[in-house]
Amino acid sequence: MLRAILKKAAAVELTAHGTPPISTRLKLALFRNRLRTRGQRNRLQMASVRAHRHLSINIQGDGNDLCLNGELRDTSINIQGSNNRIRIDATACLTWTDISILANDSEITVAAGTTILGKPNQPNVLLARGEPSRLTIGRECMFSYGIEVRTSDSHPIFDAQGTHINPSSDIAIGDRVWVGTRCMILKGSQLGQGAILAAASVLTREISARAIAAGIPAKVIRENVQWKR
Ligand SMILES: CC(C)(COP(=O)(O)OP(=O)(O)OC[C@H]1O[C@@H](n2cnc3c(N)ncnc32)[C@H](O)[C@@H]1OP(=O)(O)O)[C@@H](O)C(=O)NCCC(=O)NCCS
Repeated sequence: MLRAILKKAAAVELTAHGTPPISTRLKLALFRNRLRTRGQRNRLQMASVRAHRHLSINIQGDGNDLCLNGELRDTSINIQGSNNRIRIDATACLTWTDISILANDSEITVAAGTTILGKPNQPNVLLARGEPSRLTIGRECMFSYGIEVRTSDSHPIFDAQGTHINPSSDIAIGDRVWVGTRCMILKGSQLGQGAILAAASVLTREISARAIAAGIPAKVIRENVQWKR
């Protein structure tokens, strides 16, 4: 009962028309977090404001839904668009990471126990952009620093017939995946459960479970491995 009351007291909600009430703004300011919203029907749930430090959230659009239960430090979240969803599960931990959705109807999810630990001069980037897309990161993954994960190339390419040949495409990263420093994970990529992406690799395709992939473009160099934190 007491736990439920404390949880409710710590939670942050936006009003129906999107502006944060004064109590929310005070709570965020107390823990040096910043929130800017413009739009209607945006929803923000943070289980505990205390879990976050120097978190900056900027929402422009309508009907976006953010559920931030993990620990977020020196991290920014930027949404420009409508009906998007960001979910960071409890016990996930992100530092120096920029999470952006510049699209409509898109989603970024980081599951429980995953760590994404950027550095001040080598932050990590999670980006969903362009056409609606999903960027999903499973449970207990370990992301190093300087990593970019993008569901879009950010600029359209057209062939001679005028067909758009590089639309945004979903990225799915399974449970217990290790991503080495300075990797790029591009649109349409998939990493199976327990896979490892070697340092400075560029991934554009699918890598099967428990494989190590390396290089540009990343290719499998070993199979059936297990790794420990
Ligand atoms: C993925 C990794 C663990 C593989 O280690 P390993 O199993 O000992 O692999 P090896 O060093 O024996 O290399 C096997 C082959 O893959 C190649 N290779 C390894 N890492 C590579 C990389 N990042 N890019 C391209 N090729 C790579 C090696 O050159 C070797 O090729 P060869 O057989 O033609 O000689 C290691 O290379 C790596 O990238 N570690 C990530 C470190 C990191 O980012 N740490 C941050 C802390 S979270």
